[in-house]
Amino acid sequence: MKDKLNKIEAAALQSAAEVVSEAELQQVRARYLGRKGEITAVMKGMGQLSAEERPLVGALANEVKDRLEAAFVERQKELRNQAMQQKLASERLDVTLPGRKHRRGSKHPITQVTEEIVAIFAALGFGVAEGPEIEKDFYNFEALNIPKDHPARDMQDTFYVSEDVVLRTHTSPVQIRTMLQQQPPVRVVAPGTVYRRDSDITHSPMFHQIEGFLVDRTVTFGDLKGILTTFVTEFFGQNTAVRFRPSFFPFTEPSAEVDIQCVICGGSGCRVCGQSGWLEILGSGMIDPEVFKSVGYDPELYSGFAFGMGIERIAMLKYGVNDLRLFFENDLRFLKQF
Ligand code: DAH
Repeated sequence: MKDKLNKIEAAALQSAAEVVSEAELQQVRARYLGRKGEITAVMKGMGQLSAEERPLVGALANEVKDRLEAAFVERQKELRNQAMQQKLASERLDVTLPGRKHRRGSKHPITQVTEEIVAIFAALGFGVAEGPEIEKDFYNFEALNIPKDHPARDMQDTFYVSEDVVLRTHTSPVQIRTMLQQQPPVRVVAPGTVYRRDSDITHSPMFHQIEGFLVDRTVTFGDLKGILTTFVTEFFGQNTAVRFRPSFFPFTEPSAEVDIQCVICGGSGCRVCGQSGWLEILGSGMIDPEVFKSVGYDPELYSGFAFGMGIERIAMLKYGVNDLRLFFENDLRFLKQF
């Protein structure tokens, strides 16, 4: 009996040492100490022993049982500890690794240029106005003295929403809206999005313009030249030459286009300026008396000038960008340069 108990103990310890998980250990424990386990069986069989042997074997069986219990608890601790170490190793986190950098965003180049232009005119006393992009024919064409047979009104050039509603083709309707709301003196710039049915490397169906105008008593063409020359030298640099070239717009009389000395070749002639040495940057003129009549200003009392420029074009010249579409593709490699 004693031998048997010793063998059982040795075998139990051996099995406990071999298991690799707590679940397996539970099975080993059941096999030896459970209700149907080997030690239990020995204890149950003690009835057959003699009266002298019984207490000795009983005591030994209890000792073995206690030692095994203790050994199993110890082994369980070991297994738990191993499992924990494994888990820690697999979930290891190196807190000394450098973090991921967040890229800092910036304003779109068109927004930057718009803000720069507005700031120059704000310093000259101009306020800022805005108007809707979906516009009535009246504001976009009619009140600006653009006759019914003008090519700009063609469906080929203008996006029509309905017979008398269009996507505005320029920011000039903001002149009309502002003059209908305010009496002179007024001086305002109006940046915004405009739409035309046009698409190639220098034209986009959606682009941006900034309009400006000033109305007061005794405003002259000299004022127009002074303000626009100041703008050009502020924006493109003090040494940029400017010239005013006669032109035509239905809403101004007389009208002029403004050219600046080519920013690419400095005026000697290149591909960008078509060998002329000059680049057109805006349209302008003295506001036509017909426009004043349509907003109820007295043309005998007031005079004024107006101008309008394409922001993408200005941005292309300033930054030497040769494809307008780059501004709208939102390729980060392009945008990051600004
Ligand atoms: N609205 C014109 C265009 O889109 C630009 C323009 C020219 C605006 C002359 C003006 C101006 O205010 O006086 O092409």
